[in-house]
Amino acid sequence: MQAPVFLAAHASHVEKALINTLDARSSVVAERLLEAMGYSLLAGGKRVRPGLVVECFLACGGTDIAATMPAAMAIECIHTYSLIHDDLPCMDDDDLRRGNPTCHKKFDEATAVLAADALQALAFELLATSDAPADLRCELIRTLAIASGCQGMVGGQMLDIQSESSGSDIDILAVERIHLHKTGALLRWCCEAGALLAEASAEQFEACSRYGKAVGLLFQIADDILDVTASSDKLGKSAGKDEAQNKATYVSLMGLTRARELADEMRELAINACEPLHDNGLQLQALANYILERES
Ligand code: IPE
Ligand code: IPE
Ligand code: MG
Ligand code: MG
Ligand code: MG
Repeated sequence: MQAPVFLAAHASHVEKALINTLDARSSVVAERLLEAMGYSLLAGGKRVRPGLVVECFLACGGTDIAATMPAAMAIECIHTYSLIHDDLPCMDDDDLRRGNPTCHKKFDEATAVLAADALQALAFELLATSDAPADLRCELIRTLAIASGCQGMVGGQMLDIQSESSGSDIDILAVERIHLHKTGALLRWCCEAGALLAEASAEQFEACSRYGKAVGLLFQIADDILDVTASSDKLGKSAGKDEAQNKATYVSLMGLTRARELADEMRELAINACEPLHDNGLQLQALANYILERES
């Protein structure tokens, strides 16, 4: 399935903003570090997370998309940092990312670690220096810290690594816990951040939050399915890695057919969560379909 047209428009917005952000630091940042940050950050990527921030903002009545850019850039910085670390030899040990050699292959491990560290810090700088009111800025920083750190993505990555040696001890609840943390927390943050920036009502915020939880899980189930069904060429990253590394996924646990059924159920949950948003939630529904039916 092709990406919805609106996703490409948001991606182009956020990419321009990211280029400007890196350019503005060119005279004060070590050249090799900035080059490695830009290499990974601007290498393409579907930009689903910025798309979720913007679309949840619009679905909750927000109008000026410029107000979402700091959060949209911040999440792409955190996501790219997580990918650089995920690919390191001590983690998933991958050579290919976004159709290019991984950051540590193109540069070296120390540069890759530092570029990722710098992107993480940059994310919080972008939120702290945005034009949003101080209490909202503080809330976005607090929640992104939780979603990305030990209680979120980093915690999930730890569980993911540990699962490689768990053998048959792992069950469906354990896999759900890994996915909700390593991937789901950041996607949910995108949806909640978009709602907060739009000054959503409690009902709208709750709808975006429920939607975000469902698409977060859906996103990783789809990633696990693609790892088995798609080619490295199509994915822009090495296919077949999960089985080779004995990862705990829905596919390894219950097989492809049942994983697809579960993904369908998760998409239903995401689409149902949009109900309180009425017609404003139609693009979020389209995004949920894309997240499941994407080809990379
Ligand atoms: C890949 O994320 C890592 C996961 C959390 C599954 P994406 O599939 O969003 O990667 P890009 O940003 O498009 O490269
Ligand atoms: C990664 O999950 C989740 C992150 C927090 C980066 P994967 O290890 O399955 O992601 P890919 O398949 O390498 O993109
Ligand atoms: Mg991984
Ligand atoms: Mg990986
Ligand atoms: Mg994967």
